[in-house]
Amino acid sequence: MVKLTSPRPVERLVAGQATSDGAGVKLLRVLTQNLQRRLDPFLMLDAFGTENPGDYIGGFPDHPHRGFETVTYMLEGRMRHRDSAGNEGLLSPGGVQWMTAGRGVIHSEMPEQAEGAMEGFQLWLNLHSSDKMCAPWYRDIPATEIPEATGPGVRVRVIAGQALGVAGAMQRQRTEPIYLDIELQAGAHFEQLVPAGHNAFVYVYRGSVAIGGTQVPRQRMAILANRPDADGVAVQAGAEGARAILVAGAPLNEPIAQYGPFVMNSNEEIFKAVEDFRSGALA
Ligand code: FE2
Repeated sequence: MVKLTSPRPVERLVAGQATSDGAGVKLLRVLTQNLQRRLDPFLMLDAFGTENPGDYIGGFPDHPHRGFETVTYMLEGRMRHRDSAGNEGLLSPGGVQWMTAGRGVIHSEMPEQAEGAMEGFQLWLNLHSSDKMCAPWYRDIPATEIPEATGPGVRVRVIAGQALGVAGAMQRQRTEPIYLDIELQAGAHFEQLVPAGHNAFVYVYRGSVAIGGTQVPRQRMAILANRPDADGVAVQAGAEGARAILVAGAPLNEPIAQYGPFVMNSNEEIFKAVEDFRSGALA
């Protein structure tokens, strides 16, 4: 069991912005562009969750990406992805698609259901400048291949990094991401080591938690304070239990230039991405 000596307090709570993307998919943009510096290396977090097909049925038809990674985690529903390199896969409940766009991918992400619930997250993780033009790559990780760690009243799905001594499905150098889906029974307590210099946040999607005396209700992101002496984060579930994701990573400390689905380091690189996309040279 982890025993923290100096857990991080909450710096602030963020409610996110209701928006739509793709062909009218309704979602909550939790990590918005104005938080990219603060939460470096994370660029975006979208939460989607609905039982109304009209909110998701349009999906995300063909669109490009360059310069970062997308991590899609499904809780409910099925989504089929197809890309310009001929790859195809089906995301099912509990599964993850980890995609490195690198120098360029054009893909679609479409619901493979006409009714029922669709719920999950898409996280954007930046790449170091020297990796932005790498060859594209992806991995579909079915629910059964995501390691689980357990403690008293605690079940953690370890998507990336490690928790309670269990190595996650994905490890990444440079950004060293930790991505955990934490399920807590009423009153249960969970502690996670996080290096002091890394940026970290918790997003609660069921019930509520307390972090260092701050109540974090459902559909709120708690940005965790960076303190040189802090060794991790401690989360305590409220009376109804809770489910939350914990995300942390090493900042890249590089310039961020974003234009829609392209995230590079300079405007010149963005112009080049747009030009490559228009000329058919992106992917
Ligand atoms: Fe995409």
